[in-house]
Amino acid sequence: MPERAQAVALLEEWVENEGLRKHMYSVEAAVRHYARMRGEDEDLWGLAGLLHDLDWEKHPDRHPLTAVEHLRGLGYPEEVLHAILAHRPDFTGVEPETDLDKVLVACDELSGLVFATCLVRPTGIDDLKPKSVKKKLKDKAFAAGVHRDEVEKGIELLGIDRTEHIQNVIDGMRAVAGALGIRGEDVSG
Ligand SMILES: [Fe+2]
Ligand SMILES: [Fe+2]
Repeated sequence: MPERAQAVALLEEWVENEGLRKHMYSVEAAVRHYARMRGEDEDLWGLAGLLHDLDWEKHPDRHPLTAVEHLRGLGYPEEVLHAILAHRPDFTGVEPETDLDKVLVACDELSGLVFATCLVRPTGIDDLKPKSVKKKLKDKAFAAGVHRDEVEKGIELLGIDRTEHIQNVIDGMRAVAGALGIRGEDVSG
């Protein structure tokens, strides 16, 4: 299986936008957290989270087909490629089927909302509770680029309690909060 370092190098080669990079690291962290909780292969799941938007900047019109073709050529595991394809089923025709597929969909848009929520709080992610994220979910004008219907779809796919899912994504992202710049000390002052 490819090393995380190789995946990070790919990300840095293909993605220039700092916001998109942080999004990919956020989703990686959330998906890894789910893998840990469920006793799944954290490194394998992490690759799907980390690379799911690899070609979004360079090939938005083919996203994520170009990325999957490239990764397949590099020998990335089919589970990872399937999850990447299934995060955009309307375009690829690949529906989320496996646990990894579903977790990726469920963490993708929600992590963006958690990130945006951290940035408008003086304490960032430090004491962030699901309740605050739920409020922001309802406020459609806040972080309007986050597709609320995708968040709902993810929760449905996982068949998990909303609050629990939001807490899981927060916990996952908290583990890398320093790198994401969303701790209280990062966002205040
Ligand atoms: Fe995407
Ligand atoms: Fe994404």
